[in-house]
Amino acid sequence: MAQLSRSGRFSEEATALLNDFNSSIMFDRELYRYDIQGSIAHAKMLAKTGILTQDEAKSLEIALLTVQNEIENGEFEFKIEDEDIHMAVEKRLIALIGDTGKKLHTARSRNDQVAVDFRLYVQDKTKTLTSLVYTLVESLHSIAKEHKATLLPGMTHLQHAQPISFAYHMLAYASMFSRDHSRLEASFERNNFSPLGCAALAGTPHPINRDVTAATLGFKGPTVNCLDTVSDRDFALEMLFNISMMFVHISRMAEELIIWSSSEFRFVTISDQYSTGSSIMPQKKNPDVAELLRGKTGRVYGNLISLLTVMKALPLAYNKDMQEDKEGVFDSVQTAEISLKILNEMLLTMTVNVERMEAACKIGHLSATDLADYLVERGMPFREAHFVTGKAVALAESEGVDLSELPADKLKALDALIGDDVTAFLNLRNSMNARKSSGGTSEASVQAQLDHFEKWLKSNVIQ
Ligand code: ARG
Repeated sequence: MAQLSRSGRFSEEATALLNDFNSSIMFDRELYRYDIQGSIAHAKMLAKTGILTQDEAKSLEIALLTVQNEIENGEFEFKIEDEDIHMAVEKRLIALIGDTGKKLHTARSRNDQVAVDFRLYVQDKTKTLTSLVYTLVESLHSIAKEHKATLLPGMTHLQHAQPISFAYHMLAYASMFSRDHSRLEASFERNNFSPLGCAALAGTPHPINRDVTAATLGFKGPTVNCLDTVSDRDFALEMLFNISMMFVHISRMAEELIIWSSSEFRFVTISDQYSTGSSIMPQKKNPDVAELLRGKTGRVYGNLISLLTVMKALPLAYNKDMQEDKEGVFDSVQTAEISLKILNEMLLTMTVNVERMEAACKIGHLSATDLADYLVERGMPFREAHFVTGKAVALAESEGVDLSELPADKLKALDALIGDDVTAFLNLRNSMNARKSSGGTSEASVQAQLDHFEKWLKSNVIQ
């Protein structure tokens, strides 16, 4: 059979070079299930509105399911010259049931067809990613629950700053990923409208019912304006942005895991299951998984920028440029799926080296701010307190100890406002627990955050 899209107006066949260049079937075959789902919904609606007979719709449905089976059993031959998944399925349909197959495309165009297929794919994958991100938040919450009292040097500029808990650090990531979760949910809701029935750009004179196809496909309703709908790839761009944002978080966590698992830090040990070796240095255990997570961020951002650029300044409505919309989305979705799974596993199987983290808190005089606060509470202006504390730090340095370990007598000699109670103030655990303000690192504040995430997990539970 000749190419379906080359109607009577063509007198010459397409060249192989044109087919190679123009065809999308080798990647949009990924959409086959959504294409068949959309076609079945369309056929049923055509019968419901009297455009086709019930028998015709039934035979279309059976034949479409046959094609689906053929694809799933590897019996379907994907050919470059069939151009795209829509044409390939339709051509096979016609081969299976003849003239009835030729009626399926009534009141439809590939422009609304590709829009519905791709949107169904994105909506489906949005659900998958939402549940993977949920699982990650759940894991972070469970790790945090175990480490409310584990001290960790909190950093700014990658320099020791103030003592925090490991739980607090994990809950910072739970916060980021819970935002990713809500971004995915919001995108799902915003884009949950059906493009089907928009036809080429202007709607159709056939008495179709878009509410019916929207409901069959699980959308909230049909989209409002067909010219917009066949031109719109916001849903795909949102997916690419949501994944990119998620990778901001994944890459920051990956980077911290790389640093923490280095010999200098040894705050965590990544399990052997998720570590790799070196081909030459037998002693090595490398954090390749975390490095790859960090590295994959590049391609995910690239996919976003690439589609933003494709869509920029395109005149309405459909333009073939838009065929460039799919590969990047498929790639980002696959990358996000595997990355979320492996990050989750790596976190659940890593060892948290509590002693190393707590020992590191004794480097860098982490309770210096507490001494300044102590003096301020006793009436000293902050700038002066800052100066006296600087002297105390210099003294600790010269004694070769951490400020938290400097005997009270030595501190008392620095200023009359300093009393014996200073030792308790400088104790690192007390320092952490002093930060009781809402959202802070004290055990009490962290417990409130754990409660928050427990509620969040309950109210977002995956059905
Ligand atoms: N393969 C095309 C794409 O992915 C399908 C839509 C083609 N529409 C058209 N009018 N040529 O964008």
